[in-house]
Amino acid sequence: MDRETTAGRYRRFAEFEARGSSSCYELWTLGIASDRRLLSLIDRLPVEKRQPNLVLAAARYLGVAEASFPEFRDWVFQHWDAVAQVVMTRRTQTNEVGRAAVLVPALAQLAGSLALIEVGASAGLCLYPDLFSYHYDDRDVLHPAGGASGVRLWCATSGKPPIPDRLPEVVWRAGVDSNPLDANDADEMRWLECLTWPGQPERLRRLREAVAISRSRPVDVVSGDLNETVAELVDAAPQGATVVVFHSAVLAYLSTDERRRFERTIRGLPCHWLSNEGCGVVESVAAQLPTPAQNTPGRFVVALDGVPLAYAGAHGQTLDWFRRAASP
Ligand SMILES: C[S@@+](CC[C@H](N)C(=O)[O-])C[C@H]1O[C@@H](n2cnc3c(N)ncnc32)[C@H](O)[C@@H]1O
Repeated sequence: MDRETTAGRYRRFAEFEARGSSSCYELWTLGIASDRRLLSLIDRLPVEKRQPNLVLAAARYLGVAEASFPEFRDWVFQHWDAVAQVVMTRRTQTNEVGRAAVLVPALAQLAGSLALIEVGASAGLCLYPDLFSYHYDDRDVLHPAGGASGVRLWCATSGKPPIPDRLPEVVWRAGVDSNPLDANDADEMRWLECLTWPGQPERLRRLREAVAISRSRPVDVVSGDLNETVAELVDAAPQGATVVVFHSAVLAYLSTDERRRFERTIRGLPCHWLSNEGCGVVESVAAQLPTPAQNTPGRFVVALDGVPLAYAGAHGQTLDWFRRAASP
């Protein structure tokens, strides 16, 4: 990644992430990848701040219209200083509740009532998997015990994932993030909205619904580094509950040494470990993937206690279960 050019990074985003999900982002990022002047502006940012998601969200936060690439390009030239300032002060903290759909079949394999701990939780919106409604292939529909949820998730599956009859019971939830976002802070929630992509009204709608759930049932997301905090959080979980530490789209932000440290730590704690990360991100999981040729950018892998269970769409839109995955 470090050696990838900015043009390559934007092209890869267009082809593997935005294509089929946001035609506006696909056109903008393909345009940027071929525009020397825009690329040279983006290259003035620190490398970790050149992420397409971050730069485009900053422009949208400042009001760029969902217009053609030439209009977008002119707007960015006129407003570059402000865009760069937002990029430097904000982070990619996309809180994607859709990812709960790819976690539920794994959670449902665990016995007992769950104490959920999310590391890299952003605003903590993925900590309510028991309060969302799920549609797997429009066939298997799951609702919370109290009835249908305002957060409705659709997930296309293959390989017959073990969709449970009912949602797991969650008795306790907690999270940690290096920069927790506050669901009651309107500006922080507007930033989260800008991190969803144009042309995805359903994603925006479910984000807003999840924020409403979080406001009515606040969860404690502490501020800190996941490596420094996870043991304390596991220790704080109630006796008798099945403790699960999970994370989605987080470990890619850590160095290789930090990721290894996390895996060593989590394997030594009295908890289950549920990961949902890009295919190459957790080394020990990547080494077991049955079809390395399928490790395409933009694809995640769900693993329970270090055992890969399925490939997943980055926003939880697909779940391709490995037929021969080992049981936990
Ligand atoms: C892309 S967001 C994903 C949020 C959430 N897991 C989800 O799937 O919706 C990544 C989050 O990880 C957090 N993060 C990155 N490195 C971290 C670290 N070392 N310790 C705690 N949180 C971290 C970021 O602040 C950000 O909120």
